[in-house]
Amino acid sequence: MFGLKRKRKELILDKIPNHIGIIMDGNGRWAKKRLQPRIMGHKAGMDALQKVTIAASDLGVKVLTVYAFSTENWSRPDDEVNFIMNLPVEFFDKYVPELDKNKVRIQMIGDQSRLPQETQKALEKALEQTKHNSGLILNFALNYGGRAELVDTMRELAQDVLDARLNPGDITEDLISGHLMTSHLPYLYRDPDLVIRTSGELRLSNFLPWQSAYSELYFTDTLWPDFDQQALKEAISDYNRRHRRFGGL
Ligand code: FPP
Repeated sequence: MFGLKRKRKELILDKIPNHIGIIMDGNGRWAKKRLQPRIMGHKAGMDALQKVTIAASDLGVKVLTVYAFSTENWSRPDDEVNFIMNLPVEFFDKYVPELDKNKVRIQMIGDQSRLPQETQKALEKALEQTKHNSGLILNFALNYGGRAELVDTMRELAQDVLDARLNPGDITEDLISGHLMTSHLPYLYRDPDLVIRTSGELRLSNFLPWQSAYSELYFTDTLWPDFDQQALKEAISDYNRRHRRFGGL
């Protein structure tokens, strides 16, 4: 009435990225700001992940790949590593029913073998329980490192050449894509269209280096536990304003 008008950002969401990758960063700082231990930030990060997954599913996103634990994260203090390793157990216990109801399918990339038994069991259970779901794929990158993934792929291809199953001249981008950990994803959605990193860091930190070659990158200062449906919509709206040319004109 007194002319106090709130300017609302117009969000155009006519183009929804099929595959979104998220580097969920800033849990520690979120907790520190609240004078809480870092693990409380990871706990809040887990709740944020649940909400963002449902929001992405509602918007029609097909694949959401989330960087939950990198091969470099083992160097953190034992207590923190143990806590993060237990998160999938808690996450799947608490949230799989709701995800299941939303037809979300859980998958993972990364070296499972080094994860604690309990974590592996929880993952396998979640993968099995949701394997027939036809909705969004929530793809956990757990103990994942992009360069290690490329090393493994090169070793496999080198072995195939050595065993005379493959000619070096037949190595194509498509063949390499088919050997990466993301090869289990639907063919058209293997590579992220959009990669989001929270908390103001401007790096990809070994996250999907091959697959993100043509991804649009979106960086926000928002700390991961504060990232919500509105923040996701803002990222997608920003993506909508870009013009993807894939090297063409
Ligand atoms: C980075 O923040 C976050 C992580 C290394 C852990 C990510 C885990 C979650 C978001 C919880 C959900 C995960 C599962 C498996 C259900 P940081 O600790 O580097 O934060 P900082 O940079 O502020 O210290």
